[in-house]
Amino acid sequence: MTKILVTGGTGYIGSHTVVELQKAGYEVVIIDNLSNSNIHVLDGIEKISGIRPEFIEGDVTDLPTLRKLFSSHPGIKGIINFAASKAVNESVEKPLKYYRNNLVSLLNLLDLMPEFGVEGIVFSSSCTVYGEPDNNPIDESAPIKPATSPYGNTKQISEEIITDTIYAGAPIKSIILRYFNPVGAHPSAEIGELPLGVPQNLIPYLTQTAAGIRKELTVFGDDYSTPDGSCIRDFIDVNDLARAHVIAMKRMLENKGEKLEIFNLGTGTGLSVLQLIESFERATGVKVPYKIGKRREGDIEKIWADPKKANEVLGWKAEADIDDTMRNAWRWQQRVTPKNP
Ligand code: UD1
Repeated sequence: MTKILVTGGTGYIGSHTVVELQKAGYEVVIIDNLSNSNIHVLDGIEKISGIRPEFIEGDVTDLPTLRKLFSSHPGIKGIINFAASKAVNESVEKPLKYYRNNLVSLLNLLDLMPEFGVEGIVFSSSCTVYGEPDNNPIDESAPIKPATSPYGNTKQISEEIITDTIYAGAPIKSIILRYFNPVGAHPSAEIGELPLGVPQNLIPYLTQTAAGIRKELTVFGDDYSTPDGSCIRDFIDVNDLARAHVIAMKRMLENKGEKLEIFNLGTGTGLSVLQLIESFERATGVKVPYKIGKRREGDIEKIWADPKKANEVLGWKAEADIDDTMRNAWRWQQRVTPKNP
């Protein structure tokens, strides 16, 4: 069985990807410092796949920990690197935390890969590298715009670090995946998004509001130049996204592509914040109390993917229907909401 290291494997996208990797017959080793996830995620993974992944609690920024991991788990062929901090606001307040967590971890992995014979790394990047696009849908050839937050900057710098390392002749390959907005949960409701504290992202805030944990959702601005005035995003089902990682890993390990490839992962359809609320209400029959608030600083007005390259080259396509995705998100929220709060 091909062995894959998933850093950040107990996190939101990581856990869904672990399940898909196991389903495809890969053996998974997870390293996670549990800074934004819970050890019980392993139970959820095991319930779905029937396999408990090997788990190391540790920090990818710690080189000795990582070296020990590779020594004690010989034969790791590929890495999927999810371990990173991702709160845009927090990154503005604590830039060093973001540069350290997101960049040192990548440097450590790239350093050790050749030494331990790891062939390739799939890297979690973001559509945030495009900034506010001049045109939508946006494809991979669009210019990279100056980052508007340290978080966004770590994604741009990480892409450059990987590119420079491969062009310098390192004996590794990489696929960089630029995610649009991942949403939803596993249909089993065994795993999903589990934000600590007050959620910053739209869907966890929305589902917590629907569950009565939050009083109301604030829609950040309805005066954008979009049909209904709210921002537009490309909301992609997390299970579709997870599947793309498995396909990317297989392609990389089978040497089907170039040494370095970049793909957008999105549906190709833009949906506004208000349309997403409508979809949730339609799919679940639950009303979401919301008000229109001020614009959130730094928000992009509209962005959605041209996923043609991923569709054609990877043979991958986002398949989920947004209403089903919203139903999954709601079932997961109901599952984790404490009874009789
Ligand atoms: C941003 C980044 C993304 C990053 C993610 C991590 C961009 C284009 N995207 O996503 O790369 O991975 O943060 O957190 O920079 N909204 C509300 N009310 C809320 C919360 C959100 O109206 O309570 C709106 C936002 O204004 C936005 C949309 O919902 O228009 C999506 O917001 P969010 O879920 O935070 O994701 P992005 O900001 O798109």
